[in-house]
Amino acid sequence: MTFIVHISDLHIGGTDFNEDVFFNNVDTVNDLNPDFIIFTGDLTNHGYYAEYIKAMEYIKFFKSMFFSIPGNHDARNLGYETFQKLIGERNWARNLSSKKEKNDKIPYDDTLKKESMLKNNGMKEIIKKSDFKCPVNVNNITLVGLDSSEPDISDGSVGRPQQLWMEEILTDSYINSTFSIVAIHHHVLPIPKTGRERNILFDAGDILKSLTDFEVNMVLSGHKHVPYLWKVENTLFATAGSFSSLKLRGSCPNSFNTYEIEEDHVEAILKPYRKDYVLLGKYEF
Ligand SMILES: [Fe+2]
Ligand SMILES: [Fe+2]
Repeated sequence: MTFIVHISDLHIGGTDFNEDVFFNNVDTVNDLNPDFIIFTGDLTNHGYYAEYIKAMEYIKFFKSMFFSIPGNHDARNLGYETFQKLIGERNWARNLSSKKEKNDKIPYDDTLKKESMLKNNGMKEIIKKSDFKCPVNVNNITLVGLDSSEPDISDGSVGRPQQLWMEEILTDSYINSTFSIVAIHHHVLPIPKTGRERNILFDAGDILKSLTDFEVNMVLSGHKHVPYLWKVENTLFATAGSFSSLKLRGSCPNSFNTYEIEEDHVEAILKPYRKDYVLLGKYEF
């Protein structure tokens, strides 16, 4: 089994950054002791150098292996260069393995998924079974981080060179039957209850086709500050809410996602701030 925590949209440095929420959520994540944490962008609010310096101090509080990609806010004010200098590469690929036994630390109540939390936020219980029997080794993971940010604009784009680079890695993953995860800040598919659709990837159609053609197992995003799941063909698209920013929609609280990946299924579980865990969806491969 592999156990992943997915966090997004910290917005450190912004007036909407809530430090109390941040540290409370960090404690919860550290208690869960995931195999690794995937952060899907908007680490800072304006991309300022000083914000990055501050952000580096904050992310040191996470105890698990931490992987991050930039968001549109991180690319502002030459922040895309600062990200590369202080945080790491903006596009990267890693092969990881997990040795974890089944995680029993998430005491989610199955009945909670029917409660108002999901309904209020336009989410629904999704339990679907794919026709495709997944032959992948869930303990060997290919993780790809894709930078979809553009300097000083909120829109996103992957671009042809990065797309081809990703396809090369996904080809290897497909041949070697590893479980594949792509992290990208901008949502590839629209998210319900987020108002007028905007800031979607310019090349969303091309990227969607690559991701589904290569049967990427999971695509993790942020940006909209609203958690949601879509399943398209054999690919699960998961969006995380904001971990620590007050820029929230309606009654949607700060939150993060967790994924328990087992031989024949994945469970996506939401942790809303100061509320019980909620099953977002369970998918059998
Ligand atoms: Fe954001
Ligand atoms: Fe964003």
